[in-house]
Amino acid sequence: MTRRNQTLGEFIIENQKDFPYASGELSRLINSIRLAAKMVNHEVNKAGLVDITGAAGETNIQGEDQQKLDVLANETFINTLTNREIVCGIASEENDEFITIKGQKNDHRNNYVVLMDPLDGSSNIDVNVSVGTIFSIYRRITPTGTPVTLDDFLQPGNLQVAAGYIIYGTSTMLVYTTGHGVNGFTLNPALGTYYLSHPNMKFPKDGNIYSVNEGNYIHFPQGIKDYIKYCQEEKEDRPYTSRYIGSLVSDIHRNMIKGGVYMYPNTSKSPNGKLRLLYECNPMAFITEQAGGKASDGYRRIMDIKPTQLHERTPFICGSKNMVEKVESFMK
Ligand code: AHG
Ligand code: MN
Ligand code: MN
Repeated sequence: MTRRNQTLGEFIIENQKDFPYASGELSRLINSIRLAAKMVNHEVNKAGLVDITGAAGETNIQGEDQQKLDVLANETFINTLTNREIVCGIASEENDEFITIKGQKNDHRNNYVVLMDPLDGSSNIDVNVSVGTIFSIYRRITPTGTPVTLDDFLQPGNLQVAAGYIIYGTSTMLVYTTGHGVNGFTLNPALGTYYLSHPNMKFPKDGNIYSVNEGNYIHFPQGIKDYIKYCQEEKEDRPYTSRYIGSLVSDIHRNMIKGGVYMYPNTSKSPNGKLRLLYECNPMAFITEQAGGKASDGYRRIMDIKPTQLHERTPFICGSKNMVEKVESFMK
């Protein structure tokens, strides 16, 4: 049951029965992410004070080393999940290799791996524009009791058991899915509590926003160039509106509420696009599909791609179903 004003803690407990297996463990995992997100939120909100407390790489007046926010967010999530012995492994955009968590008893008894982009849109921090965190959760495929291997992380997106993002915006929100729709919770910073503010979020089937870094136009494939021209044509409901924040979480969050399509295509400079399949595209694709939208690389469903490397990149077209299908028809 979903109820507005329900807290995230209540929601997690009430919906625990949705999982066929190890549900308590998954609930504790989402609880840990909720906690880490509050800590990162606190740091993000202080970012504008950096000139007063000292820039990254310097020592502040208390004698503490200042860290870049993306490094800090990475450590916060890793430490929170490691200390609580909740996962058997973590892979992060910020780390070259995955981390094995063996547990205090060295028994590798946990069942889930987390993959994450701890701070998405990091170039926006210095200018006081929304950033985010993205996470993706899988059940391990190797046996419990043994150390995780790379195979546990290289699973296709269609095997995700949960995924979500936190948006540190005008409000801080945690939006996630466990495969039973998408729910959004807004943080009341005075109480440190998230409340269900956006139950059962749905991508409008159509929209009139296109989000792409048009500065790269000259390097785009012909299909994307043609689609952009289509968006700009004067016909019926067109021209569309162009909106691009440069932080994937914020751009998709807006498009999910208003209706739109986000595109980061391959370019002649980066033949596989820029975004990371495991840390950015798969979790956003899972949320998007659960909200009735669609995510594609221009030709195939994102979540059906079998990853071969941790830091693999892919072109990414994601948003309102009809708009993504239109882009795909231009790619043919
Ligand atoms: P990150 O900050 O984690 O490196 O991700 C930035 C990503 C994504 O959030 C955003 O949509 C995209 O890069 C913006 O890239 P361009 O500046 O090339 O448009
Ligand atoms: Mn990112
Ligand atoms: Mn990042």
